[in-house]
Amino acid sequence: MLASIYPAYLALASLVFATPSPRQGACTGLDHSDKFTLNAIYADGTGPVPLKFIDSGTVPHVGWALLTACPSCSNSFAYSTLAAGVWHPYASEYQKPVSWPLIAGESPSFISEYPYPTGWAGYCATDDGFLGVNDDASLWSLCTNQTSGRLDVVYSPVASHAHYVANDCASVKIELVDV
Ligand SMILES: *[C@@H]1O[C@H](CO)[C@@H](O)[C@H](O)[C@H]1NC(C)=O
Repeated sequence: MLASIYPAYLALASLVFATPSPRQGACTGLDHSDKFTLNAIYADGTGPVPLKFIDSGTVPHVGWALLTACPSCSNSFAYSTLAAGVWHPYASEYQKPVSWPLIAGESPSFISEYPYPTGWAGYCATDDGFLGVNDDASLWSLCTNQTSGRLDVVYSPVASHAHYVANDCASVKIELVDV
């Protein structure tokens, strides 16, 4: 009796477990095959809102950039690549910005300096072309940054932040658009 049930159970188990579907918003890789630009898509499907890199400060020999939805800002970097979890906005042959460690409540930031740093390897992509962090693509928001008046991209907004009111942030997905 047991012998005849056992194979059937195994067959059922492999049916159930062989092709796990990825969790909603879960990353499937640390690379994206093409150069891309980025769009924010609101949770209700509205958008796309083109995202841009803007300079957020320079100290001698080191440049910083962050990610914004500001319509009137000019974009510092035309496109990006994602390789082994490191986000590389393209600037020039001589300026090679890379992702800086992202923390909850902040905008993605990028550092340009020489010698070129390796970059933070915490970014990822879903198989349907969305950007994630630490395996999760569902934690992005657009928040009005009160220090600048811009709508900036914020990763996992925190309750009391000096630059925005978390309740006014809007949840978005960030789409990778191949160029
Ligand atoms: C808000 O804007 C300021 C000035 O550009 C910038 O330094 C800061 O990182 C921004 N804050 C967030 C959370 O994006």
